[in-house]
This record gives sequence, structure tokens and C-alpha cells, in this order.
Amino acid sequence: MNPLNRFQTETQAQLEAHLDRLLPVDPESRLRTAMRYSLFAGGKRLRPLLVRAAAEATGVADDSWLYPAAALEMIHTYSLIHDDLPAMDNDDLRRGQPTSHRQYDEATAILAGDALQSLAFEHLAQTPSTSADVRLQMVLLLARKAGQSGMVGGQMLDLQAENQALDQQQLAQIHHLKTGALIEASLLLGALCGGVAEPVPTALARYGRLVGLAFQITDDILDVTTSTHVLGKPQGSDLASNKSTYVRLLGLDGARLAARQKIDEAREALLQAGLTSGPLHGLADYVLSRPY
Ligand code: IPE
Ligand code: IPE
Ligand code: MG
Ligand code: MG
Ligand code: MG
Repeated sequence: MNPLNRFQTETQAQLEAHLDRLLPVDPESRLRTAMRYSLFAGGKRLRPLLVRAAAEATGVADDSWLYPAAALEMIHTYSLIHDDLPAMDNDDLRRGQPTSHRQYDEATAILAGDALQSLAFEHLAQTPSTSADVRLQMVLLLARKAGQSGMVGGQMLDLQAENQALDQQQLAQIHHLKTGALIEASLLLGALCGGVAEPVPTALARYGRLVGLAFQITDDILDVTTSTHVLGKPQGSDLASNKSTYVRLLGLDGARLAARQKIDEAREALLQAGLTSGPLHGLADYVLSRPY
């Protein structure tokens, strides 16, 4: 196993155990069961991986990164549950299994997403090994990146852009918000665990912004190139809803080139701040080469 694979496997196992302690099975609770159904369906856990990579690159030696990592994964999972609803992308498959509203019903899916969001903030506010001031900064940061000026704002623009012809700048803005904001937050929350001085947080934010954009461009590419079976979500969903995507705008080769350029710039931003951490560099490349 290469070092990046080991980092991924180890981080995923730690995160699963942490989430399982946080949200134990409760067969009596329909809500808890639906929350767990989506949370434990086997996502790639990219955001937790980035939190840990940033935390360790900034000197964190304990497991405190697990708190922001779990918080981000819960916000991300809530965003996926809502993204799949009939009123949004109307998809039936997620992480290789029926979407929450298909498995349960729309009301349960909405509420499972809502409850994951609340639990994320409750949990983040309890991050150990940090001062009350840092915990406040963490909660503020996540609220901003998840809300109207971050992920939710981007989701709104994404829906408004269906059937529209956008230019590259407008599309980049949507991708930055709907996907990049939570990825940038992953780096910044990891860095807050470490508490290092500039220029490192600014470089990590820039890296996160570029990796986030490359990640969503690659998501647009995979929607066209990869089977439903491998993706674990329906191939062609963007075409079916006439979404604005990088593939539609630049073609497949143009989209691939754009994503590659963002990753090269992201790695350059790390190097300029003296960040040579293997996982940060490795995860940047993984964003392009991932099979799903
Ligand atoms: C899918 O995210 C939605 C986007 C923001 C592109 P991921 O590709 O990280 O989904 P999981 O967590 O691995 O299922
Ligand atoms: C989703 O973008 C971004 C979110 C905030 C959930 P997509 O709609 O492209 O994500 P997938 O392709 O359904 O995973
Ligand atoms: Mg969507
Ligand atoms: Mg979608
Ligand atoms: Mg997509």
C-alpha cells in the first residue's frame, strides 16, 4: 500500500469509528436510522482527509481534527441528501444505494439532512484541545462556508443556471460556492486545530479553493465518462437536468485541462508557503485521478 492509500484507509477507519460513537444505532428512531443510512453509505470522505492533512501539516499531533472532520462530513452528507430531492436534482441513487427520499420518504430525507446539519455545529463547538476563541472561529467559519455565501448559495445558483448558457466565470463562481466552500473550510478548520501563523492559513485557503474547483470540474467529467455502477450515483444526471457544467462549456478535453491547471496551481500555492506535506500534495492529485 502506498503512503497516500495508507493515510486514506487509516483516516476513513478513524472517522467511521468516531461517527459511530457520535451517532449510535437506535432502531426505535426513524430519524437516527435515516441519518445513519446516508452517513455510513461509504463516501470517499475527502473533506475529513483534507482536515486531517491540514491539521497534521500545521503541527496537530492528537485526534482533535476528528471533530471538524466529522462536522464537515455531516454537513456534506446533509447537502447530498437535499441535493438529490425531487425539488433539486431528483436522483434515485447515492453512494451506491437508493437516495434517502427513495428509501424513506421526502419528509424523512429533509429532516435527516436538517438534523445532520445541527449535529455538525453541536459537535464542532466541542472540539477538544482548542480554546473557546478558536472553537468560536471554527463555528463561524463553517456557518459562513455552509450557508448563503457558501454551499447553499451555490446550490441556489446551480438550480437557477439550469437551461442557461453561462460563461466560464459565472460557472466557476457556482462551483466555488456549491463545492469549493466546504473544501476550503476543510483546510481552514484543520489549520485552526493547528493554530499556525500566516502565510500558512492563506496558502491552505488558496489550495482549498483551487482543489474545490478542480473537484467539481472532475465531478462534471465523471457524470459523462463513468458508469452508474462505478459512480454509485446516476450517470448523466447533469444532462438530464440540463445543468451548466464544465464539460458542456469546454468539452471533455477542455474540462480535463482546466482541472489539471487548478491542481498545479494548488500545489504551487502549498510550495510557496513551504508546505511539502505528502498527504496534501497526494490528495490534490487524487482529486483528478479518482475513479468516482
Ligand atoms: C459529491 O461529493 C458532490 C459534490 C460536491 C461534487 P463527493 O464526490 O465527495 O461524494 P462522496 O462523499 O464521495 O459520496
Ligand atoms: C452537488 O453538486 C454539490 C452539493 C453541494 C451537494 P452535484 O449535484 O453535481 O453533486 P452530485 O453529482 O449529485 O454528487
Ligand atoms: Mg446538484
Ligand atoms: Mg446532484
Ligand atoms: Mg455532479
